[in-house]
Amino acid sequence: MGFGGFKLSSFFLFCILLLLSSCYSQFSPADQYSIDCGSPTNSTVGSRVFLSDNLASGYLTTPQNVLVDASGNSIPSSEYSQLYQTARIFSQASTYSFKISQPGRHWIRLYFYPFSASNYDLKTATFSVSTREHSLLSDFNSDRETVKEYSVNVTSGDLEITFTPSGGSFAFVNGLEVVSVPDPLIGNDAASVTPPTNFHGLLNQALETVARVNMGGPTVTSRNDSLWRTWVPDRGFLKNPNLATNVSNTNAVRYPRGGATEDDAPRSVYGTAARMASDNDPKSNFNVTWEFPVDRGFQYLIRLHFCDIVSEAPNQLYFNVYIQDSNVLPDFDLTTRLGGNLATATYSDFVTSSMNTDQIRISIGPSTVNNALPNAILNGVEIMKMNNSDGSLSGKDIPLSSKKSKSNVGVIAGVVVGVVIALVLILVLFFVHKRKKQERLNQSKIWIPLSTNGLSQTMGSKCSNGTTISAGSNFNYRCPFAAIQEATNNFDESWVIGIGGFGKVYKGVLSDGTKVAVKRGNPKSQQGLAEFQTEIEMLSQFRHRHLVSLIGYCDEKNEMILIYEYMENGTLKSHLYGSNFPSMSWKQRLEICIGAARGLHYLHTGYSKAVIHRDVKSANILLDENLMAKVADFGLSKTGPEIDQTHVSTAVKGSFGYLDPEYFRRQQLTEKSDVYSYGVVLFEVLCARPVIDPSLPREKVNLAEWAMKWQKNGQLDQIIDVTLKGKIRPDSLRKFGETAEKCLSDFGVDRPSMGDVLWNLEYVLQLQEAVLPNDPDENSTNVIGELSPQIHDFHTSGDENTSTGTGQFEMSSGDDISGVSMSKVFSQLVKSEGR
Ligand SMILES: *[C@@H]1O[C@H](CO)[C@@H](O)[C@H](O)[C@H]1NC(C)=O
Ligand SMILES: *[C@@H]1O[C@H](CO)[C@@H](O)[C@H](O)[C@H]1NC(C)=O
Ligand SMILES: *[C@@H]1O[C@H](CO)[C@@H](O)[C@H](O)[C@H]1NC(C)=O
Ligand SMILES: *[C@@H]1O[C@H](CO)[C@@H](O)[C@H](O)[C@H]1NC(C)=O
Ligand SMILES: *[C@@H]1O[C@H](CO)[C@@H](O)[C@H](O)[C@H]1NC(C)=O
Ligand SMILES: *[C@@H]1O[C@H](CO)[C@@H](O)[C@H](O)[C@H]1NC(C)=O
Repeated sequence: MGFGGFKLSSFFLFCILLLLSSCYSQFSPADQYSIDCGSPTNSTVGSRVFLSDNLASGYLTTPQNVLVDASGNSIPSSEYSQLYQTARIFSQASTYSFKISQPGRHWIRLYFYPFSASNYDLKTATFSVSTREHSLLSDFNSDRETVKEYSVNVTSGDLEITFTPSGGSFAFVNGLEVVSVPDPLIGNDAASVTPPTNFHGLLNQALETVARVNMGGPTVTSRNDSLWRTWVPDRGFLKNPNLATNVSNTNAVRYPRGGATEDDAPRSVYGTAARMASDNDPKSNFNVTWEFPVDRGFQYLIRLHFCDIVSEAPNQLYFNVYIQDSNVLPDFDLTTRLGGNLATATYSDFVTSSMNTDQIRISIGPSTVNNALPNAILNGVEIMKMNNSDGSLSGKDIPLSSKKSKSNVGVIAGVVVGVVIALVLILVLFFVHKRKKQERLNQSKIWIPLSTNGLSQTMGSKCSNGTTISAGSNFNYRCPFAAIQEATNNFDESWVIGIGGFGKVYKGVLSDGTKVAVKRGNPKSQQGLAEFQTEIEMLSQFRHRHLVSLIGYCDEKNEMILIYEYMENGTLKSHLYGSNFPSMSWKQRLEICIGAARGLHYLHTGYSKAVIHRDVKSANILLDENLMAKVADFGLSKTGPEIDQTHVSTAVKGSFGYLDPEYFRRQQLTEKSDVYSYGVVLFEVLCARPVIDPSLPREKVNLAEWAMKWQKNGQLDQIIDVTLKGKIRPDSLRKFGETAEKCLSDFGVDRPSMGDVLWNLEYVLQLQEAVLPNDPDENSTNVIGELSPQIHDFHTSGDENTSTGTGQFEMSSGDDISGVSMSKVFSQLVKSEGR
């Protein structure tokens, strides 16, 4: 495809994306049924029309029922009082049935107001409500207005809701709603409160909304919520209301690209918060606590909404967030999470594990880090009950009478299909297992089995028998705590070289003189354990000259310590801006980009299963004493899709400004998400400015958007780092811009692979050095063919220090090739240009 074609198609994609994003910002549900039960006429609530469920409507499949109206009752003033004028009453099990045009999560909302009619006092009704898969309510009885909201994943073409009277009683309902939920609203992953692991599998849970609360503000009605939800004020849940103060600044709220959206919670929720009533008294030390009553016997999904509308500048507010007694967000710093932005909407999901509690307690309190003034905020909370192992949300099984006989045919068909599927599965599993076994044999030398109670001790290590730890070529793993204490001068604060989400990073010197970087997870934090384990698992499997090497770890006494090779020159980011390092030449920058691309290319392809880094950014590209780039920080990495899938579905993680919009939209992770983030790094390298810079005028804040605009106009040279002005050859810059632009394609399929990026950058470098004697067609978007003669040359020289002896660690040939060119170039570079 020629470049013109590329431009045209990306223009179309851009248009499609615009359309998609406008759809997204105003979610229009594929399925929407709003029913005013027992009413002969349609009713309007806000922008919604609740239709009459008269028999002609066809929703009610079992018509043994009566309608009643509430004349003579005083209906409470409520946004739904329209619905409470009438009810439909069932003396036998009765079913509403709704066609579902798009499978997926749907809300079921049930509206009850028990008035008394001539022959029926609805306050005496006792009944159960269920779908085919889930029991929603059992032996329900109420004497007041009640709105119940569930969200269930509907996988078949219809949804049945059955009302079953409990022995001798009757059932009733005033209003009923079935509405599609936007897919991104509930992801598949959350953090589990205790033990601190990941909870995976939310997509298959039926949920019931138990609380939806707007902290520090008034009721937000369905009219002010894009998804027609109601948020109640928090006063009634506060344990000690005197300890909390309201704050409000609705206009400040911003919804970042790649973060929370208006569908997650409206402006009126993010724009108000409860904060500690600390009056900036530095001695204040208390928690603000809310208590929510819940049913025993269930796990709960807790979503905490945050938006820092109180700070005047970034990094002023540090606080702890507790669920029950666990510190789930220790030393939480909203601005770090949000790339330096204030008043930006975000949320965190947690799943409780104890089923033996009838109260969920959420507290916020001051943190002691950085001598921050004691303060803490919370903007909103949603608590959702998760179905139990029987698929029930009521603690009871689905009433027998609602399992209709007609479904027997379905059951038999289901069994037959099930058996066939099981057979196929067994065969597939057999072959997969056989393959895995083979792989495991190949990798047994470096595989670390991880168990929940810590890391296995099977690795041989010089460190564990009390002698020295060294950074030699053998891979040494577990290190005694004492040795690390010694290496870091007992975690001397003046040896700290970095602070990250995980904890502090210290410089260290091993007894043999090797310099190391020691990353110590906050011992109080249980959060990082999963990331700690991922990092060890990943780094012990991958050894590559462009990936930072792990030298050892320590998990004694609940410590989470990782020891890496020391990278003399710190992060790529610090060389681009914000520090006193001398400005790097274009050639140096290209070499670094090429090195990082090579590391990522290896992650994506160098192993039987692709590994997706998930947090590619300039702060995770480290530079050694020769300015050679190595990719670091594998805490968020995931192994990629199995062969027959094309993506991994997962909750969006990563860093603001670098996040792949497609990953964010679809929560599906592929290697191409890394390619996107890498593309942002390319622009960062060229322009030497932060990817998100809130201090700039609005159109410049987001580097990716800003740079793409200039690239598309063919004027990228206008915004490059001033120190590079006039030093980049136009061809080199043009090719570089095109490469970065392709990495930032809206759709993953349009982005090049890391391998392609690598070749293109090699070519950019050659264009700069002008070593191509016969100028090839530079408009070509693929230069592999043109470069191949040189590639073969490179291949003949040896590569000294990457081999580790196991086949596993040997690089794919493509990598090997470029690795050599790299080391050559670097030695030259160091000699000729120095720093
Ligand atoms: C209610 O609205 C629907 C759809 O707009 C319409 O088809 C139906 O006739 C209305 N029913 C009544 C009773 O007005
Ligand atoms: C619904 O369930 C199906 C099958 O378990 C799953 O593939 C899908 O992702 C789920 N959808 C949602 C929106 O939860
Ligand atoms: C906080 O806001 C809520 C809702 O607007 C209100 O009921 C409450 O009285 C306010 N509390 C204080 C201390 O102002
Ligand atoms: C609801 O939205 C209206 C405008 O659409 C606004 O005037 C009102 O203040 C909002 N209410 C709340 C509680 O935010
Ligand atoms: C806040 O609550 C947590 C969890 O219950 C507790 O460990 C902590 O000591 C409390 N802090 C204060 C200052 O009361
Ligand atoms: C909820 O039900 C699904 C099946 O519908 C099941 O896979 C899941 O394990 C249940 N959840 C819990 C917490 O038991």
